[in-house]
Amino acid sequence: MAADAAETEYTQGYDFVVVANRLAVNRITQEDGTEDWQRSPGGLVTALAPIMAASEGAWVGWHGAPDETLEPFDHEGMHLHPVPLSEQEVEFYYEGFSNGTLWPLYHDVIARPLFHRRWWDAYRRVNQRFAEAAAQVAARGATVWVQDYQLQLVPQMLRDLRPDVKIGFFNHIPFPPPGLFAQLPWRHSVLRGLLGADLIGFQRDSDARNFQRAVRHRLGHYIKADQIYVPLQEEDDAGSQIPGFSADPSRGTAPRQLSAPAPGSHRVAEARAFPISIDTDTIVDLAGREDIIARSKEIREELGNPETVFLGVDRLDYTKGIRHRMKAYEELLHDGDLEVGQACLVQIASPSREGVESYQRLRDEIELTVGRINGEFDTMGHTAIRYLHHSYPIEEMVALYLAADVMLVTALRDGMNLVAKEYVAARKDATGVLVLSEFTGAADQLRQALLINPHDIDELKAAMVKAAQIDPDDAKKRMRSLRRQVVSHNVKRWAQDFLDRLHHL
Ligand code: F6P
Repeated sequence: MAADAAETEYTQGYDFVVVANRLAVNRITQEDGTEDWQRSPGGLVTALAPIMAASEGAWVGWHGAPDETLEPFDHEGMHLHPVPLSEQEVEFYYEGFSNGTLWPLYHDVIARPLFHRRWWDAYRRVNQRFAEAAAQVAARGATVWVQDYQLQLVPQMLRDLRPDVKIGFFNHIPFPPPGLFAQLPWRHSVLRGLLGADLIGFQRDSDARNFQRAVRHRLGHYIKADQIYVPLQEEDDAGSQIPGFSADPSRGTAPRQLSAPAPGSHRVAEARAFPISIDTDTIVDLAGREDIIARSKEIREELGNPETVFLGVDRLDYTKGIRHRMKAYEELLHDGDLEVGQACLVQIASPSREGVESYQRLRDEIELTVGRINGEFDTMGHTAIRYLHHSYPIEEMVALYLAADVMLVTALRDGMNLVAKEYVAARKDATGVLVLSEFTGAADQLRQALLINPHDIDELKAAMVKAAQIDPDDAKKRMRSLRRQVVSHNVKRWAQDFLDRLHHL
C-alpha cells in the first residue's frame, strides 16, 4: 500500500479498537424469519460499549459461523469488523490450539493439553488475520485493546504492522506457573507475542508474576516493578520461523539481564493485575424487579420449597469442579447430613465447546453422576439434583440467584469467576452464602466468602453444611462485606482503570 493511501486510511479509522475472538454481537432470527444482530449480554461488551460509542469505536472479532465472510457493519453505535474463519480453522485454531492446548495448559493441566503443530500453524495464521484486521480499522495513534488467550500473538503482529498505535492486552484466564508454561513448544513465540503490548493485564497478581517469571527465565529480560524492558532488536525477530518448521525461533532459557539496558535499546511493556468484575448496576436493578422476585419464589415452589437451595452455575467445563461438588453433595446425602426434600441442588450447566472431545466426555460423566445420585436419593415428590443443560437469559439467572440460599463455586482453577460476583450483587438484602474455591481469581477479592479447597472433599462438605446452618447474623455480616467489594468495583471501573493506565504509559 502506498504511504499516502495508508495515511488517508488511518486518519479515517477508529480511535478505539477492541480485538476479541468473538464479535460483540450475536446473530438472532426474528419471529418473521429475518436475521438480525443483538448485542452480546456479557460484562465485557456492556463495559466497553459506552466507551465505543463515545470514542469512535470498532470491534474486531469472529461472528461465530464458519466459512462465511461478512462485510463490516454498524450496530448500536459500534463498528463491527467480522473476521472470517474456515471450518478447519475453527477446528484447529479455536477448538484445537485455543481450547485443546492453551485452555488446559493455562488451567493447571486439569485435562491433558495436546500439542499439535498443525493447530499451532492455524493459531499463528488466524492471529495474523486478526492483527491485519485491527491494523486496517485503527486510526493513526489509536488505542487497540486485544482480549484473551486466543489472540496472544496479535500484540506483536499488530506492532509490526502499526507501530503508531497503543496496544493493550488482557488475559481473562489464568497465566500458568513457569513449570507448566514450559511444556508449550511455542512458549517463546507466545511470550514475544504478548510483549508486543504496552500493557498486559491479568486477573490476579499471581498470574502477572507467573508471566514475569516466564519472561525472565525464557527471554532473560530485565524487569523492575512490573515493567519489562523489551530489547528493540528482538522485536524484529519476533515470530520469525525457520522456513518449513513450526518450532520456536529460540529454545531453552536465556541468560538473565541483571541491570537496566542502555536507553534507546529497548521499549517498556508493563504487566500487572486488573481483576475484572461485572455490570453490577444491571444485576442490582434486576434483583429489585417485582417480576424477577416473583419468579424466584416460583422457582422455590417448583422445587418443593426445600429449606436449603444449593445452586451451581457454570459453563459445562472440567475446570469448574462440578464433579467435586456432586461428590460432596452425594456423600452428605449418603451420610444423612443433608436430606432430599429439605435440600436441593440446582445445577445449571450451560453447553460449551461441544466440538472438543474432553468436553463431550465431561458431559457424559456429569450426566451419569446426576442420574446415579437422583436414582438413589430422589423421592416421588422431590429431586436431589435439578440438572439443566441450558443457557438462560440474565433475568432468569438473577431469579435463580435470589432463589438460592447457597451458591457453590468450586472451580479447580478459574481466571476470575463472574458468577460468584453476580450472586453477591443480586443479594440486596445481604442474605445468602457464597462457598468459593480459593482457586478462582474472585477469591482474592471476596475474602468473606466460605473459602474452600475443592480437592478437599471433607472441607467442601463441612462448608456446605456450615452454609446450610449458618447463623443469620454471621451470614449477613459476610454478605455485606462481599457486597461492598462488588458494588464498588464494577466492570466499568475495571475497563477505565486499564485504559487510564495504558494511556499513561
Ligand atoms: O473465560 C474465557 C472465555 O473466553 C470467556 O471470555 C468466554 O465467556 C468463555 O471463555 C467461553 O468462551 P467460548 O464459548 O468463546 O469458547
